[in-house]
Amino acid sequence: MKIENKIILSNVFNIGLILLIGFFAMQNLNLILTKLRFVEIADDLNASFLEMRLSEKNYFLYQDESALLDIKEKIDATERSIGQVSADISRAIGETNLDLLKSYLRQYAEVVDEVKTSVGHSVRIDAKLRTRGRGLREFSNTITRLERKGVNDIITRSKNVLFYSFWAILASAVIVSHFISQRILRSLREIQRLAKSISQGNFHKIEGSVPDDEFGTVIAAVNAMSEELGNREDELIQSKKLASLGILTAGVAHELTNPLNNISMIAQNYMEFYDVLNETNRLELMKQISGETERIEEIVKNLLDFSKPKESKLEERNINETVRKSLELMQNTLDISNVEVRTELGEGLAHVYIDDHQIQQVLVNLIVNAVHAMERGGVLKLATRPGEEERTVKVDVIDTGKGIPPEFLPHVFDPFFSTKGVGGTGLGLSVSYGIVKNHGGNIKVDSMVGAGTTFTIELPVYNKSAGLIEGG
Ligand SMILES: Nc1ncnc2c1ncn2[C@@H]1O[C@H](COP(=O)(O)OP(=O)(O)O)[C@@H](O)[C@H]1O
Ligand SMILES: [Mg+2]
Repeated sequence: MKIENKIILSNVFNIGLILLIGFFAMQNLNLILTKLRFVEIADDLNASFLEMRLSEKNYFLYQDESALLDIKEKIDATERSIGQVSADISRAIGETNLDLLKSYLRQYAEVVDEVKTSVGHSVRIDAKLRTRGRGLREFSNTITRLERKGVNDIITRSKNVLFYSFWAILASAVIVSHFISQRILRSLREIQRLAKSISQGNFHKIEGSVPDDEFGTVIAAVNAMSEELGNREDELIQSKKLASLGILTAGVAHELTNPLNNISMIAQNYMEFYDVLNETNRLELMKQISGETERIEEIVKNLLDFSKPKESKLEERNINETVRKSLELMQNTLDISNVEVRTELGEGLAHVYIDDHQIQQVLVNLIVNAVHAMERGGVLKLATRPGEEERTVKVDVIDTGKGIPPEFLPHVFDPFFSTKGVGGTGLGLSVSYGIVKNHGGNIKVDSMVGAGTTFTIELPVYNKSAGLIEGG
């Protein structure tokens, strides 16, 4: 459901609740008003009943017949006024009580008539008059008291309902807004993560089901953008490749020209001076030719590595093992060079997702370069450590060699860039760069002339569920 709809729904719910409470409060207020109106009427009635009883007393004290007439008049007046507000009364105390009240009044009127018509004094009738008069007043008093209590009860109940419903509405509003803001925050974090990874050049998508709300739309848009960026980058790489193919061809031609010229020259010498050359001289020349062809072979081999990176077989690996194996491969070279090797391999590192052979090849290239840079000896340090947010693992290859001049730094990964003359092909670092990038990783260099150079490779860690977290 869309977040907008969720908010509307929760608002509708709360407004509904408020309306309900409002309705309830209105209802109670009306009831209170009715009851109060009755209490008002009842006060008047009670006053009349009291007056009737006073007249009754007068009758008994002074045997005043006019007092009886008085009572009759009052009863009539009261009956009339009850008749006028009978609707109000019955609403407050109900039809039955109203009828009871009327019948009490009727009975009282009947006794008054009876007293009036009776000849002389009958103790029995007098007592009846007293009882009826008292009964009428007591009934009316009781009902008034009950109604007053009723009013208090309703007010207390309304107060409670308003109190609890206030908290209920508040709680519902807080809970709903909490859930909605959590949802928004979660989606924002996802998008933020994706945006960050896109800015780092990893064009993957937000995994999992896309929510059916506004963020779903945003996520879908960002995913589409990420995919598009990925495609664009692929196209860019493709066109860069075509451009570098030109440079490469020129480079290859140049690289191959030297050994070919040498071979040609040696062969010509061999033919020209065949007669004067002795066995040793001839063997020497042939050795030179063999050396030059070996050099051509090496160039071609590196070139092949560079132009078509072999299918990589990615597997879950412990990077420290790979580093150790690479060092073993280089053991002889390191033994005869004047280089001291130190390792600082991080413990408990996350496993990486790599083609072991290819990464060994990268490390060997870096180690060879380091040894070359430390002709007069030095320290080679290999270190492994977790990368940013533990999504990657980093390997540092640090030497204390002659360093790379700043003007060369931007070119060390270029194919055929070499400062080693005949000794180098200039392909080691560009091949390494290709391999690491293919792994979804990164390779960086930091150097200071005279102090040394640090190459850092960053490789994605293995993730059981997705295979890969970064890159891929
Ligand atoms: N550890 C290092 N110290 C100093 N210079 C280096 C180092 N590694 C690479 N370089 C420079 O980068 C160049 C390119 O290296 P690379 O691609 O391996 O080709 P090559 O080793 O055949 O020259 C080297 O010629 C050298 O000038
Ligand atoms: Mg090299």
